[in-house]
Amino acid sequence: MSIDKIAVVGGGTMGNGIAHVAAQAGKDVRLLDVSADLLQKAVATIGKNLDRQIKKGRLDEPAKEAILGRIATGTDLAAGVADADLVVEAVPEKIELKNTIFHTLDAAAPAGAILASNTSSISITEIAAATGRPGQVIGMHFMNPVPVMQLVEIIRGLATTDEATAAVVALATELGKTPVEVNDFPGFVSNRVLLPMINEAVTALMEGVADAEAIDTVMKLGMNHPMGPLALADLIGLDTCLNILEVLHRELGDDRYRPSPLLRKYVAAGWLGRKSGRGFYAYG
Ligand SMILES: NC(=O)c1ccc[n+]([C@@H]2O[C@H](COP(=O)([O-])OP(=O)(O)OC[C@H]3O[C@@H](n4cnc5c(N)ncnc54)[C@H](O)[C@@H]3O)[C@@H](O)[C@H]2O)c1
Repeated sequence: MSIDKIAVVGGGTMGNGIAHVAAQAGKDVRLLDVSADLLQKAVATIGKNLDRQIKKGRLDEPAKEAILGRIATGTDLAAGVADADLVVEAVPEKIELKNTIFHTLDAAAPAGAILASNTSSISITEIAAATGRPGQVIGMHFMNPVPVMQLVEIIRGLATTDEATAAVVALATELGKTPVEVNDFPGFVSNRVLLPMINEAVTALMEGVADAEAIDTVMKLGMNHPMGPLALADLIGLDTCLNILEVLHRELGDDRYRPSPLLRKYVAAGWLGRKSGRGFYAYG
């Protein structure tokens, strides 16, 4: 099945990046959010990110205009997905919200359309169960920032068909990404492996093994990580890290995923990382 028309639900951090790469690959994109203001901001962000590509000599002005010309926006979810081949949902990580949205998508999108979620940790099988087409529900887990990062983790729910998986794998490749197929387990592969490392770094900080800079430097220079785990946690958002650890802890029932008390303390203080100006590091 070829995917030409893509609706993206949610124009935040991830949604505007997904719309960006889809339009850049020549797809017809409809970006949907709850207000015209938010949509304007999302399109402005895409414009700024395209300007960055122009500065690096990877794009010219006419190409930028053509890409932006392929992105239509709207606030009516049902109307926006009515002729989509694929819908990619990128709304906040709340199960009730995702279930409600998938219920609407199922009623409004064409019968053959694939419904994908960009969730970081919620079960694709559970989201699929909110629809009458669980075979066509799948995870497309893009990484942040979407235009830059190579990976798309493709998550197969219990009922996801081979056809839907093949179509989404082919699309991710068309978008210039490298798709990797995984099965639906809490945290998939990316966050199941990454978050325990971040959590251990936070615990090492809490126990006074070393200060934040020393911990990050050991991991950067010693393990060849491009970024230390604490700086990475600040980038992801400490509330998001806590949220994912809670899913791992609850769903896998194993105390090795128990969130560090220091991580809880920072989130309770509103120290959420870069987005709040303060996390393990201070940001101007
Ligand atoms: N931020 C990351 O680093 C990252 C990485 C990978 C995956 N994810 C996942 O991607 C998803 C989105 O995360 P984000 O960081 O882009 O969030 P965000 O808060 O930046 O953006 C969410 C957007 O969804 C919109 N929205 C809320 N309710 C809506 C509705 N009913 N209809 C349409 N739009 C609605 C919001 O207005 C907002 O613009 C989450 O599931 C998250 O776990 C995030």
